[in-house]
Formats: sequence, structure tokens, C-alpha cells
Amino acid sequence: MPKPIFLIGYMGSGKTTLAKKLANKLALPFIDTDDEIVKEVGMSITEYFQQHGEEKFRALERLQLQKTANQEVIVSTGGGSPCFFDNMQWMNENGISVYLQMSTKSLFDRLSQSKPNKRPILIGKTEQELFDFIDEKLIEREPFYRQAHLVIDHMNTSVEELIVLLQKQL
Ligand code: S3P
Repeated sequence: MPKPIFLIGYMGSGKTTLAKKLANKLALPFIDTDDEIVKEVGMSITEYFQQHGEEKFRALERLQLQKTANQEVIVSTGGGSPCFFDNMQWMNENGISVYLQMSTKSLFDRLSQSKPNKRPILIGKTEQELFDFIDEKLIEREPFYRQAHLVIDHMNTSVEELIVLLQKQL
């Protein structure tokens, strides 16, 4: 039975970039659940959050995740998805999950440069608030992320090394 490979991790950890590279190397399709939501609702994630709230967004996110069942595809997931409902368990039962682990400092360096239209929960924070928020949330989210089949040090793992690790899981 074909199964998806889920890349999970905090906002800014490079899930989408790595998912595209992996999809390219393995000649598999690539899906970004956030992009699928944007296409479906016809507005940015920030607009959706503002108009409908986070709860509705999380429900859509879950639906997008579950649409990947039984597909041989590389999935870049939203940073919060493993931490809502039973999504983490669902991913582990229906595919292979890979956590792209990164430190608060590295995430902060990347997120302080990023555009806010995809990340409503980071809007309006000073640099110090952003750092503290990432740190706090990472502590809260890591128990979910660490349930992944594979935990990789993203900065020091090549796509080729990841493919070898994935082949052992198949
Ligand atoms: C979120 C992460 C975002 C997006 C939304 C909420 C989160 O995805 O799903 O803004 O709660 O961490 P990325 O991790 O792709 O930025």
C-alpha cells in the first residue's frame, strides 16, 4: 500500500524546501497542506484566521492531512498540525513522519526574516517577544514532534542521508 511521507516541525524549519527537494529526488508528487487550504478557501492563512478563527483552520488542516492517505507523496505539514486532534498518531499510522529538529535560535533567525501572510500567530511581535514565543511553543510542541518515526538534525542532514534513513522505514 503506498503511503505518504510527512515532514513535520516548527514554522520556519524548512519543511517545504526540503519536501520539494525530496519529491524531486524520489520523483514523487509534493503537497503543502497550507497551500491546499489557501487554494480551497481562496484567501491567505492570515485572512482565514482573522475571518474564521484558528479552530476552523485546524479542522481544515486535519482534512487536508487525511486526504493524503494511501498516496505515495511528500507532504509538507503546517507547524501546528501534529499538535491538534490525533493528527500525530494518524500520520504515524498512515505514513512515515520526519521531524526536522531545529533550535530556538536558528528558528528565530529564520522567522524574524519571514513574511507574515502565512503565519498569523507570529504577527505583531517584537524581536524579544518572538524569541520567547518560539521558545515557549517549542517546549509545548516537541513532545508531539518527537513522536515522529525519524528525528533529523535538519541543518546537518543532507537529502541523500535522509533518503537512506527513509528507505530503512519502508
Ligand atoms: C502554523 C504554521 C504555519 C501555518 C499556520 C499555523 C503553526 O505553517 O499552518 O500559520 O501553528 O505553527 P508553517 O509551519 O508551514 O509555517
